[in-house]
Amino acid sequence: MKILFIGDIYGKTGRQMIDNYLPQLKSRIHPDVTIINAENAAHGKGITQKIYHHLLEKGADILTMGNHTWDNKDIFDFIDRADRLVRPANFPEGTPGTGMRIFRAGNKHVAVINLQGRVFLPALDDPFRMADRLVAEAREKTPVIFVDLHAETTSEKLALGWYLDGRVSAVIGTHTHVQTADERILSQGTAYLSDAGMTGPYNGIIGVTREAVTRRFLTAMPVRFESEEGAGQLGGAVITVNDTTGKASKIERVLINPDHPYFD
Ligand SMILES: [Fe+2]
Ligand SMILES: [Fe+2]
Repeated sequence: MKILFIGDIYGKTGRQMIDNYLPQLKSRIHPDVTIINAENAAHGKGITQKIYHHLLEKGADILTMGNHTWDNKDIFDFIDRADRLVRPANFPEGTPGTGMRIFRAGNKHVAVINLQGRVFLPALDDPFRMADRLVAEAREKTPVIFVDLHAETTSEKLALGWYLDGRVSAVIGTHTHVQTADERILSQGTAYLSDAGMTGPYNGIIGVTREAVTRRFLTAMPVRFESEEGAGQLGGAVITVNDTTGKASKIERVLINPDHPYFD
């Protein structure tokens, strides 16, 4: 089974990258499952119901989120019905939504888990122990388990990757918006990548205009963040998984931007 994962969709440019490239990517890769992180899909902050449906129509099977989950209030109106969306599982108990979905892909089941790190991010429940619980629950139904680990530091991501090695098919990082080049299969068969990178504006600073971010660094004053315009990028990964054992045999990064024209 092939899993296509695409990192943080950022604003209109990110959505356009999906519209323009997902059909081509799918016809080249032939994924059985397509998972997209959509935490920045609405103007860089959160997701709306319209965008949720748009991304599913464009070919996503399931959407993952992160620390921006609640930033667009629209989500409170549809999250209870959004059966193709997961938000970080280690949000406090009683939070709307769910952190794991198990869904059918062909004649197999795939579990998708979203976790958020705690280093340089708000204090949440322990993602390690939450992963233990969810993985045990998922494995009763399927060995094919995908984890979107939304976290800031490579140390926390690597720690969780190794912690789950052999128990899940893939641990793929999101949140930093900058793709790392450390893709590998860990010793017990878990595909790992510290960060898939962002799908959004190529010439901004993690999606935001250079002008706004630079001004904040220069003045330490609050500034209004707007999405950068112009050229786009797409970051992701393709993981090949044995659907009987749940072990990954291959992971390849996907990077599309003006400096890396994937399809040429
Ligand atoms: Fe993000
Ligand atoms: Fe994030």
